Amino acid sequence: MDQAQSLREYMNRFNESHETKHSSRLITITSGKGGVGKSNFTLNFALALRETGKKVIILDLDLSTANINILMGVNPRFTLADVLHQRKSMLEILEKGTGGIEYLLCGFELEELLKFDQNMLLFFWKQLQVLQSYADYILLDTGAGISKENIDFIMASDETILVTTPEPTAIADSYAVLKAVHQSTKQPPNFRLVVNRAHTYQEAVETSRALKNAANKFLKMKLMTLGFLMEDPYVQKAVRLQTPFYLAYPKCEATRSIKQILYSYTPEWGQTHQAPIKGIKGFFEKILSLGKMT
Ligand SMILES: Nc1ncnc2c1ncn2[C@@H]1O[C@H](COP(=O)(O)OP(=O)(O)OP(=O)(O)O)[C@@H](O)[C@H]1O
Ligand SMILES: [Mg+2]
Repeated sequence: MDQAQSLREYMNRFNESHETKHSSRLITITSGKGGVGKSNFTLNFALALRETGKKVIILDLDLSTANINILMGVNPRFTLADVLHQRKSMLEILEKGTGGIEYLLCGFELEELLKFDQNMLLFFWKQLQVLQSYADYILLDTGAGISKENIDFIMASDETILVTTPEPTAIADSYAVLKAVHQSTKQPPNFRLVVNRAHTYQEAVETSRALKNAANKFLKMKLMTLGFLMEDPYVQKAVRLQTPFYLAYPKCEATRSIKQILYSYTPEWGQTHQAPIKGIKGFFEKILSLGKMT
């Protein structure tokens, strides 16, 4: 039996004997074009979710573009790599962010997972179980684009929020993400769309309609609109302050938009929600199965 196979068997046995009463929903926030506002959306949406009493963790898997911590003005001391190397437990590495949310930095490339020895992976697996019981929501802020890695994240998460702006290039790149996912699976997950930096309500509606129609007509994919975020100078002011706009400017247009988006956010929506929650363990399981373990 090779390492991958015995690990998979262990995971199955472990899952059967550790039925979790509580499970965290893993939401991937992605985009086709870079710089459309994913990280700002993730952070401020996380704060709005937290305000409803939910435990929310932001997971940053990308070392090169990890910048949520900069937007919050915190400096993470440890990463998931410290858990993998058994130097720290999962709860020890959770970094307190602003407004009661917590932050987790990956610190290693996921494809490296299988290079680690089985003991390390089993410890990691148990620690994921801890995280699964701890959080209500884990928001995954990804880099932009249609890399295999990003497509895998989308396939492995419980739901995906696609962020775009009304720019034609951003719309075209958003469509490219939908198409890439459509091409990699027979059962593409449902996406929810957030249109950011709209100058008028009309512009936001037209953007979402164009993408929804194209997804439906050419890909037979269902795209639901989660909401719109207006162009707001307070977003940039907050970035410079390294304080989320939701906290720094509670009455600004962007904060009002986030509150509206939270209001439309009903986890019961759509097919993805009828499926059992995969959560963080399901996420890593799927990532492993999409990688070298198959
Ligand atoms: N609603 C908005 N109104 C005005 N400016 C905005 C808005 N949303 C985002 N921005 C601006 O866009 C910049 C980029 O936002 P952000 O870093 O969240 O994008 P991103 O999609 O995460 O980028 P990357 O793809 O590089 O990770 C922000 O620093 C801010 O200046
Ligand atoms: Mg970002």
